[in-house]
Amino acid sequence: MATEKTFYLETFGCQMNAHDSEKVIGTLEQQGHRQVDAEEDASLILYNTCSIRDKAEQKVFHRLNDYKALHKAGKRFGVLGCVAQQEGEKIFERAPYVSLVSGSASYRKLPEMLARLEAGETRITGLDDRQTDETFETEFTARQNPYRGYITIIEGCDKFCAYCVVPYTRGKERSRTSTSVLEEARRIADLGYSEIQLLGQNVNSYRDPEGKRSFAELLAVVAEVPGIRRVRFTTSHPRDFTRDIVEAIDAVPALCDHVHLPVQSGSAKVLKLMAREYTPEWYLERIGWIKAARRPISITTDIIVGFPGETPEDFIQTMDLLAEVQYDGVFGFKYSPRPNTPALVMIDSIPDAEKAQRLQVLLDRQREIQRSNYAKHLGEVMEVMVEGFNPARGQVVSRSSQNKPVNFTSSQPIAPAPGSYCRVKITATHPNSLVGEAI
Ligand code: 5AD
Ligand code: SF4
Repeated sequence: MATEKTFYLETFGCQMNAHDSEKVIGTLEQQGHRQVDAEEDASLILYNTCSIRDKAEQKVFHRLNDYKALHKAGKRFGVLGCVAQQEGEKIFERAPYVSLVSGSASYRKLPEMLARLEAGETRITGLDDRQTDETFETEFTARQNPYRGYITIIEGCDKFCAYCVVPYTRGKERSRTSTSVLEEARRIADLGYSEIQLLGQNVNSYRDPEGKRSFAELLAVVAEVPGIRRVRFTTSHPRDFTRDIVEAIDAVPALCDHVHLPVQSGSAKVLKLMAREYTPEWYLERIGWIKAARRPISITTDIIVGFPGETPEDFIQTMDLLAEVQYDGVFGFKYSPRPNTPALVMIDSIPDAEKAQRLQVLLDRQREIQRSNYAKHLGEVMEVMVEGFNPARGQVVSRSSQNKPVNFTSSQPIAPAPGSYCRVKITATHPNSLVGEAI
């Protein structure tokens, strides 16, 4: 009797990884495998890993170790994603029961790698790093998100910021044709999705290989696909942030009024050490364009504190930039040295306690900025998209076009379905969410 092929897949890290997993699941299902919810029930156990910060690779080895006894029961293990690319064949040394190690730049070869796995091979690698020009496109994406369809438009990164592993783990920058992106957008709309999120490590570094459309033009045509009501895009890089992106948001209502534009630091010296290739003034000029738009556009960012060489004065400049921009959201991180990156040679001499303290000061200040930004929505009536229901609070969980969480009550006996739209009047505000009533 043929045993059923089952797999368990756990995903760590960013939205790019979450969407890669949707494509990996689709590919496996296409090859006759069935997804299960527990390691114990799977014949193949996969981890799609992240290595952006901290000791992410340790986490993966711990997880592998926790489940290694299952190997004796005949289960196979595979490590995918950024830790796979970063650690490569060393994974086989540290965890000999792993049979497959593949970085994202090799996923297009997954069917072949799976066939070799089934044939009994035990050391299969997919470790194309910066050589490949190809993207991972598949029509077999198993979409896991009930209300948002993801489309990767550009993979990899050519920016080489001094602290970042991504250019090494995800390979060189390569864009899909705008024709194929548009076809996928239409397929997503046909599936019933009304929200699309365009993804890329640097989404706005997009260059159409066919030369047909700029990034801003691609945004506009995707937003005009019938059935699509919201288009988001992340993450934008300041270097490639052009004015026509703001013009597109102004012109096309379905383009969401939100830009995530990581600044990383407010100090010109630290930005230089980070090899970000812009100054605070140059960044603030782009912020000026966004703020000058006809409709208000929400701005969020990423900031690293404690980068090697960051003095208390440099940190104050980051705080000044925070006060000037008045972000709607900040992801703050303590610098952590990463393998292979140029910043490794810089001495990471700021004690962890000092980094933690700077981070706390930053997040406390940002909370107050958000308290006042979010308070401006009081009394506003806005359209939200439903994401779920919180039974404990009796509230519908939803999001505004600006990507702000909105929790609201509705007099309807049945909560509106995820993916549907409601008009909500905002009756209370918090630093991280809005509260309202359906009208
Ligand atoms: N240390 C701390 N934060 C980092 N990030 C990327 N690499 C590092 C690192 N080595 C942060 C950046 C980036 C976000 C995704 O993660 O702020 O924008
Ligand atoms: Fe993490 Fe970056 Fe890899 Fe995404 S691309 S999983 S954020 S290391």
